[in-house]
Amino acid sequence: MLRLLASYFIASLCGEGSFEGTSNSLRGRAQNFLDGVKQKVHTGPRQIAGAVLRRGAPCMTRTLLIDTDTASDDAVALIMALRSAEVRVAAITVVAGNVPVAQATSNALFTAELCGSDVPVYSGAEGPLLRKLATADWFHGADGLGDHGYKPAKRRAEPRHAVDALIQTVRENPSIEIVTLGPLTNLAIALLRDPKLAASAKRCVVMGGAPCCEGNVTPAAEFNIWVDPEAARIVFRSGLPLEMVGWQLCRGEAVVNPQETKRVLALKNPIAEFAVRCNSTAVEAFFKQTGQRGMSLPDPVAMGIALNPALCTSSSEHYVEIEVSSELTRGMTVVDRLGVAKDSRNRDVWANTIEHHRKVHVCWSLDIPKWKDLLFSALA
Ligand code: BDR
Ligand code: CA
Repeated sequence: MLRLLASYFIASLCGEGSFEGTSNSLRGRAQNFLDGVKQKVHTGPRQIAGAVLRRGAPCMTRTLLIDTDTASDDAVALIMALRSAEVRVAAITVVAGNVPVAQATSNALFTAELCGSDVPVYSGAEGPLLRKLATADWFHGADGLGDHGYKPAKRRAEPRHAVDALIQTVRENPSIEIVTLGPLTNLAIALLRDPKLAASAKRCVVMGGAPCCEGNVTPAAEFNIWVDPEAARIVFRSGLPLEMVGWQLCRGEAVVNPQETKRVLALKNPIAEFAVRCNSTAVEAFFKQTGQRGMSLPDPVAMGIALNPALCTSSSEHYVEIEVSSELTRGMTVVDRLGVAKDSRNRDVWANTIEHHRKVHVCWSLDIPKWKDLLFSALA
């Protein structure tokens, strides 16, 4: 099946990136594969932030699926979602990125357990579609959580593959909101197997990219997009209603500064303590990289916007393309901010995008005080 998916993927890249006209037989086989999966309805009690929600409890109207390469900032984002009273997290799907997928899965389970949540966690893609995995242990530590020797959670991941779970969860939850906090490999494979998923999700908030500015892993690219640019291209061309939350939004005033970090620690609870401690390596790496002191939290910024879209204070819709060919600019998110892609001089390069693909909602600014309030209340 994986080989079949790879050939479908390559066909889609060769066919101008459009899924139209590519292998129907693969779609058929993927469909049959999924049809064999029986629907499971989760009927047991569910714990969120220490409170057990039982059937008959007031229903939260919004459902999230979170795809993550769980390391230190992902963990804080998971805490925000799992402790939110506004949303139900239907599933956490895990992908290789910051750390290998087994470690990321263990980190997601640990974080969920700390929050008293029994959200199902599924382990997924072990590496990018076409490239070798490059992890970010240099930023988050070898275990992704600052190497403090956290004991593994008691619970194990669900037996199903994250991609199967992703497809089924989106199908079963019309209007689901997807939040991606890692490389887009799982989501790209899911979309290759079932392109109709793109129309099922209400929104897809992507932590990724560096629109119109420098990247954090190369001068041109942000880590999540750089790790698996082919997957990012598939997702950005899929028709999903994407909201792009770039790396630049977690810098400057958005960094949780040392005074604010002390305020978090003063909350004196295990969740706040974990959120700070697991980011210890990341704080040093960020200082080395940017000269700024404090916790820079890209995934929690994206999660904040997912939970409260009003936190994004300015945004606009543009065609966005992902660079997959150049080694110099691999994974660059090229945003047509001035709308020049339609000009005759650019038509040859952009025609396919303009004709076949959907614009992306790019977030340009964050309500930093409100985002910090949301973050601190999730840790309280
Ligand atoms: C992104 O890369 C990862 O290191 C972080 O978890 C975040 O998702 C920031 O570029
Ligand atoms: Ca991440």
